Amino acid sequence: MHAWLCDNPIGVEALRWKELPTPTPAANEVLIRIEAASLNFPDVLIVQNKYQMKPALPFVPGSEYAGRIEAVGTDVADLKIGQAVACLSGTGGFGTHTVAPAQLCLPLPSEFDPVDAAAFIMIYATSYHALIDRAQLQPSDTVFVMGAAGGVGSSAIQIAKAVGATVIAAASNQEKCHFCLHLGADHAINYGDNNFRDKLKELTNGKGPDVIYDPVGGEFTEPAFRSIAWRGRYLVVGFASGPIPALPLNLPLLKGASLMGVFWGDFAKREPANNAKMMQTLIQWYQQKKIKPPIDCTMPMHELPAAYERMNSRAVMGKLVMVNTL
Ligand SMILES: NC(=O)c1ccc[n+]([C@@H]2O[C@H](COP(=O)([O-])OP(=O)(O)OC[C@H]3O[C@@H](n4cnc5c(N)ncnc54)[C@H](OP(=O)(O)O)[C@@H]3O)[C@@H](O)[C@H]2O)c1
Repeated sequence: MHAWLCDNPIGVEALRWKELPTPTPAANEVLIRIEAASLNFPDVLIVQNKYQMKPALPFVPGSEYAGRIEAVGTDVADLKIGQAVACLSGTGGFGTHTVAPAQLCLPLPSEFDPVDAAAFIMIYATSYHALIDRAQLQPSDTVFVMGAAGGVGSSAIQIAKAVGATVIAAASNQEKCHFCLHLGADHAINYGDNNFRDKLKELTNGKGPDVIYDPVGGEFTEPAFRSIAWRGRYLVVGFASGPIPALPLNLPLLKGASLMGVFWGDFAKREPANNAKMMQTLIQWYQQKKIKPPIDCTMPMHELPAAYERMNSRAVMGKLVMVNTL
């Protein structure tokens, strides 16, 4: 097998594409032949030793991937050789093969596109958990999605439209705004050069959005919260812009509004049965063509450093996926 090995976590420049012994799965693991792996926000941080999870060195980065099972451990009963799976295991994806705990594998119908599968779990699980489980989104709601051309943001547009809600997307330039409209957003606001609060007021007839989905944080959070509707639900999803904002607590009081934390990773660990049910619904929605990962581009696995460069330049719209052509 080949993989990108990180033995010095100072950044992507230290990664090396190496031939490695193909591992044998432990009792509760499976060996996966990787067909595709998506690039996620944590993949950028983990090779710089800046992510909360710090794997032992050396390790293979690549948090999310899809492929076919090639071998199963002795205790694995419900996965078979040849089964198509998607997996979000934190590391291991940027290579041709990896071993992963069987319980982290999501079995998929054989016809599920492997590129879509590699970009499926993280974005849709986060947005379904946020919008439907946490915010109890209704068709009559208006949702304001920030960072809407990014990975989780683009999935939030699709999930909200699948529920029948009205979506106002926000992104940092016109190209990203067009992308959001193409994905189904009803309106798009360029927060790069507009006063987005005036625009939000205008688009909601003065009422403000019922639900706000915020994976960006930083300077946008407080003005966004100030725009929320009476009884609004504000979803704290992430801090892609860097700074973790603070909020004066008189603001939720004045709007009778709720500030809701979203942590899909812990939801999946603490409520595995609810998570499994949610993932089955998402697979059905994919088969019914209600959702489909927006793929920015695919790149050959051995071009990973160029993919990181594209991600770091904030140019990616939707998901960037590495594919194995070996
Ligand atoms: N809570 C959870 O369970 C959960 C799950 C998954 C991800 N997340 C978090 O959600 C956030 C977004 O993840 P993602 O996968 O959607 O990332 P992504 O694909 O890189 O998208 C992030 C978006 O944030 C915006 N942004 C604003 N300032 C930025 C900056 N300085 N650098 C980069 N992007 C910036 C960009 O849109 P514009 O250029 O249009 O502003 C970009 O499209 C991350 O913080 C991630 O850790 C949380």
